[in-house]
Amino acid sequence: MLLNVFSTPRSIEGESLRKRLKKRLSENTSTKTVEIYNSFDIVGDIAIVKLTESSKEQAALAANAIMGCNKGLKTVLAQASKIQGEFRLRNLVCIGGEDKTVTTHREHGCFFNVDLEKCFFSPRLSGERLRISRLVQPNETIVNMFAGVGCFSIIIAKTVPTAKVYSIDLNPAAVECMRKNVRVNRVFGKVLPVLGDSKAIIEARFQHCADRVLMPLPEKALEYLPTAVTALKTSGGWIHLHCFEHAIKTEESMDQAHAKIAAEFKSLDIDFEVPFSRVVRPVGPNWHQVEVDIRVNG
Ligand SMILES: C[S@@+](CC[C@H](N)C(=O)[O-])C[C@H]1O[C@@H](n2cnc3c(N)ncnc32)[C@H](O)[C@@H]1O
Repeated sequence: MLLNVFSTPRSIEGESLRKRLKKRLSENTSTKTVEIYNSFDIVGDIAIVKLTESSKEQAALAANAIMGCNKGLKTVLAQASKIQGEFRLRNLVCIGGEDKTVTTHREHGCFFNVDLEKCFFSPRLSGERLRISRLVQPNETIVNMFAGVGCFSIIIAKTVPTAKVYSIDLNPAAVECMRKNVRVNRVFGKVLPVLGDSKAIIEARFQHCADRVLMPLPEKALEYLPTAVTALKTSGGWIHLHCFEHAIKTEESMDQAHAKIAAEFKSLDIDFEVPFSRVVRPVGPNWHQVEVDIRVNG
């Protein structure tokens, strides 16, 4: 049996799992070929893999090898579509183990209940969640415009117990998981889940109240930027924005993001600075996810 593991630029488990998988499969004498992409995710006790077209028939083989390498795994799901739609969901097919999509993921000492079929969740934002939580100051009010199952918000509330985070999401299933996660992580009154479109919710309830606004949805960040500004206190504050940029070099992606943000702020006639930005990860050929910290001056 031969395993080809396609290296994609970002891998959660990295070399060690790749090596263990190769070793495990080389012990088998069959001559079948299994090809999986290296960058698979582990969420709680579920692995999510991307199989190549040619290896879909050997899906069960790949699933068994993955579960054999990580005894904590109960389920292997294959990604059957791109992440799509307003709720940022993907189709998933069980290729091994227990047929389920609900799990509990542990991150930075917090527990996140998530239904992977109904809610967006990515363990790849773990580093960013920690980075942002460390920037928060005592007693801040924060608006999370695209909160998902509440990961950014809950990690912030655990890191800075005097902070209050209004956590908005359009997806009722994500807000239901967020409510559970608020209970499990004991952050009542600190993380406040709100169901709805963040633009409408901010206009109706959260004008000029926030020290910091989180915008972890690249597809809508620039469109919703003027609304984020209105959520900030009149004395100013911080906006943490993610966007996708198309460029050959990562520096060009950041320059493009800066230019678009500058154009928005120019049209709003508001003073701002960008003290920090970076490319988080490649998201396709010459496409990059860029994160930008914007200081809005009052
Ligand atoms: C990339 S995910 C957020 C990730 C999340 N912050 C995390 O750390 O897991 C984007 C979220 O935005 C939500 N969303 C999409 N459009 C929205 C809108 N107009 N208002 C509020 N939430 C929205 C989606 O349902 C999805 O849960």
